[in-house]
Amino acid sequence: MKIGVLTGGGDCPGLNAVIRGAFFNAKKHGHKLIGIKNGWAGLMEANGAPLKIEDVQHIITKGGTIIGTSRTNPFKTPDGPKKVQENMKKMGLDALIAIGGDDTLGVANKLAKLGVHVVGVPKTIDNDLCCTEFTFGFDTAVNTATEAIDRVRDTAESHNRNMVVEVMGRHAGWIAAYAGIAGAADYITVPEEPFDVEDICRAIREQRKRGKNYSIIVVSEGSLPKEGTMKVEDGKEVDAFGHVHLGGIGNAIAQEIEKRTGIQTRCDILGYIQRGGVPSAFDRVLSTRFGIKAVELVRDGAWGKMVALQANKIVAVPLEDAVGKLKLLDMETYNASKVFFG
Ligand code: F6P
Repeated sequence: MKIGVLTGGGDCPGLNAVIRGAFFNAKKHGHKLIGIKNGWAGLMEANGAPLKIEDVQHIITKGGTIIGTSRTNPFKTPDGPKKVQENMKKMGLDALIAIGGDDTLGVANKLAKLGVHVVGVPKTIDNDLCCTEFTFGFDTAVNTATEAIDRVRDTAESHNRNMVVEVMGRHAGWIAAYAGIAGAADYITVPEEPFDVEDICRAIREQRKRGKNYSIIVVSEGSLPKEGTMKVEDGKEVDAFGHVHLGGIGNAIAQEIEKRTGIQTRCDILGYIQRGGVPSAFDRVLSTRFGIKAVELVRDGAWGKMVALQANKIVAVPLEDAVGKLKLLDMETYNASKVFFG
């Protein structure tokens, strides 16, 4: 069998480990793995090449994706889905493994309904994909963000300042909550619960009263203020899936805190630093297991299914159940972190 593999959406530590796992399992069963270039764009252009053992044998430690990625959406072009099917035929592909988040797997789900032989692998540092307890990349991003918070603390403490650290998390505050708890944040904001900047200032004043000379506030990029409490500007740039380019709420919060408390407050936006780099051991293992299982799904003809982590087992779930809705942060974890807000 000739199996195509593509990576779509934002890059993520562990993508290469999935490709490596899939490659070796495919090879073991006499199949060929074809690397499709730049996500769905590669299938719109019939752009791909067979992966060789020397391409994949050392990539488990490498961040990003060796086959490239994009946010191309074939359903945005009238003949896009047809083109994908024609090109799969042209390239001699019997099946496809799509590795991505909600957008990439949403496309895979629609294509499966049109009869395309496709299975999915869930990826996103945001950890907001349904039906899987964790997506790979999240653990690495949390470790990177935690280390950044640890470093920022040195400046905060030395300069008697507040530091706002903005992390990724468009719709869900998983990274903010986990890195915030691990990094001993003094306040955390998440998209799931609109914040009141006055409550952040109250916590900071309390912390000063009890002798703490700095505060660290971890902010998820998708955080929003409670209506009427603070003015924020809307993002303008929109991608092929209709998502606004985020980033900047941390600066707005820092300015407002400084204005209201009179304490010097600075902001660091971690941005793409938390999306790149060497995957953690947890992510390498999860990605490898996902890659191996994806080839098993192909072998079983389980089209329209996605690999997932449930109770530490790798299982198959319908793509239909996983896409189009979000796995929001569990509020028990977030609420527990509030014990430190003040
Ligand atoms: O990978 C998910 C994510 O990191 C979001 O948290 C973020 O908003 C988005 O990707 C930004 O990605 P890009 O700027 O590459 O489109």
